[in-house]
Amino acid sequence: MDKLIAQQRIQTLSKELHEHNHKYYVLSAPSISDFQFDSMLRELQALEMEFPELASENSPTKRVGGTVSKEFETVMHKYQMLSLSNSYSKEDLIDFENRIQKLIEDDVEYVCELKYDGVAIGLRYVDGKLIQAVTRGDGSKGDDVTNNVRTIGSIPLELKGDYPKEFEIRGEIFLPLKAFEKLNEAKAKAGEPLMANPRNTASGTLKLQSSKLVASRGLDCYLYYLLGETLPKSTHFDNIQKAGEWGFKVPLTEERMIEKTNSIDGILSFINFWDERRHNLPFEVDGIVIKVNSYEKQEQLGFTSKSPRWAIAYKFETEQAATKLNSVSYQVGRTGAVTPVANLAPTSLLGTTVKRASLHNKDQIEKLGLHFGDHVFVEKGGEIIPKVVGVNTALRSKDADPVVFIESCPECDTPLIRKVGEANHYCPNENGCPPQITGKIEHFISRKAMNIDGLGGETVEQFYKAGLLKNIADLYDLDPLKMLALDRMADKSVNKIIKAVKNSLSIPFEQVLFALGIRFVGSTVAKILAKNFKSIDHLKNATIDDLIAVDEIGQKIAESIQEFFSEEKNLDVVERLKKAGVQMRIVQSEKDLNVNKFLEGKSIVVSGVFNTFSRDELKQTIERYGGKNVGSISKKTSFIVAGEKIGPSKLEKAQKLGVKLISEDEFIQMISDNI
Ligand code: IVH
Repeated sequence: MDKLIAQQRIQTLSKELHEHNHKYYVLSAPSISDFQFDSMLRELQALEMEFPELASENSPTKRVGGTVSKEFETVMHKYQMLSLSNSYSKEDLIDFENRIQKLIEDDVEYVCELKYDGVAIGLRYVDGKLIQAVTRGDGSKGDDVTNNVRTIGSIPLELKGDYPKEFEIRGEIFLPLKAFEKLNEAKAKAGEPLMANPRNTASGTLKLQSSKLVASRGLDCYLYYLLGETLPKSTHFDNIQKAGEWGFKVPLTEERMIEKTNSIDGILSFINFWDERRHNLPFEVDGIVIKVNSYEKQEQLGFTSKSPRWAIAYKFETEQAATKLNSVSYQVGRTGAVTPVANLAPTSLLGTTVKRASLHNKDQIEKLGLHFGDHVFVEKGGEIIPKVVGVNTALRSKDADPVVFIESCPECDTPLIRKVGEANHYCPNENGCPPQITGKIEHFISRKAMNIDGLGGETVEQFYKAGLLKNIADLYDLDPLKMLALDRMADKSVNKIIKAVKNSLSIPFEQVLFALGIRFVGSTVAKILAKNFKSIDHLKNATIDDLIAVDEIGQKIAESIQEFFSEEKNLDVVERLKKAGVQMRIVQSEKDLNVNKFLEGKSIVVSGVFNTFSRDELKQTIERYGGKNVGSISKKTSFIVAGEKIGPSKLEKAQKLGVKLISEDEFIQMISDNI
């Protein structure tokens, strides 16, 4: 293509894609299908590949990530990044209002907003283009995380309308609750320790080295503060509204997410409104922020060394319960991660009885300064497992012993290790520590892995104790006579197990790879690895560089894979599995190679109970024809394959978003029409 024509086409495509991105992520009102969006994006990518000199820093193609930062550059903030003073009671707010009234002998208008619980970010724009994104850091200087921020869909890379030539806008980057749950589900499946809460996850995500990985996490951002010499309006509220016109995600007045008032009663009414409803929001908020609206009055009030005098944060009370710490136990997961758990005197919290709470790791125990018998406070946050958040030291008995994190494994006595940069301790005795062995076998046989039914957790333990199962390869050498000799084992159950083990030989390589239980290799990563390396031998021989050359595979995963294959015992197990006939390479049938990928670009939800196929079979079919399986319904969903007993909330959501439902029979028809 002629360069001039390419330049024009790039401009048109970029403009349109920026516009559609805004409609999708900021307005939640897309006007084209995902398929149309993706094909425009692909066209742009191809043009930029052909004419790299025409690709701009803020091209919509930068949203998908691709940069790797070894270190983030430290940069000075143009304007100090201060925080807010906190208040915890209505009385504090009355004091705040009185102080302001005393200093400003005039009517004062306030703006009430949500206090988003995430990470503060400063975004600088020149001529309508995002040029820099910096974290708070120490308030004077922070980390330049621009490439990672470019992947956040709701942050505009190019502005529209009458924006000032140069300005800074600040806001909070957060991880929506749905994205947090999805991440933790994936972590649970990969046997990795779970993330503690959405805020820490957002902050960790922003500092990831691979911007591609950042893009996949689904961060979001609300903007709450503008700075600059040429802002168009003289009040905070009006400038925030203006920022909305330029393309930023700002709170909406209709949903009462931002409100002007000139009385303390107005402020209290806003607080009460959100205190009751904050749990219905799709992200976490930890309070309300109240700001003086007029810039002139803000200037009159000025700043203390730490925070503005014209604003205050009101923190919500969280549901807490006080109880007593009886003991601490330590759980060892299948990857060897050791998690301390507090055993508590039973107490009631938000309608459930709490007896145990997570202590996360050694640092957390030390941070709390925990002693046995302590009176502790437990809280339920965004996460399901309650956590210990504080200690009432006034009630501690003088002779109480501090809780000291164990040094060796509670199960096998091996000294624990902690890798640099990781918060968790691990038992390194991978092949000799009972819960790690049985945990690995249980993972291997699970439905999403080798799908060997008939063998539950208890049977695995029974077989392990009897010496029949010492590792996953032993499954393929099980002796029926030895099995029959065990308690509760009859012909029928033994046959069932033997048959299920035999059936597992047809499980495809990508699933086998997931089943092996390599740290950080969840089902998605396993799929990517299988697709790129095709066989276990190629994967085994891959260098770190070969591995990280693959999109979505970072240093951490690459190292873990190498570590797995450096263990003699693992190599031995893999060889035995191979000999037993387990699929250790991608087998692509002629049929598969030539399939019509007619579902390419479609996001499909499979939900309900089906007659002819299992849900997993339907999902495999979708993938085979190029479609993507997604767990929850959104505007991006192309259609839902709906079985019987599909939940009413799903139906309602589908109807609300106008997503089409098709039956199992219609889906089968669709497949046969296209092959
Ligand atoms: S205004 C000069 N508004 O809470 C202060 N902050 O300690 C400008 N935050 O640093 C901050 N929601 O990270 C403001 N609606 C909101 C906010 C908000 C969350 C965060 C922000 C700030 C911290 C206060």
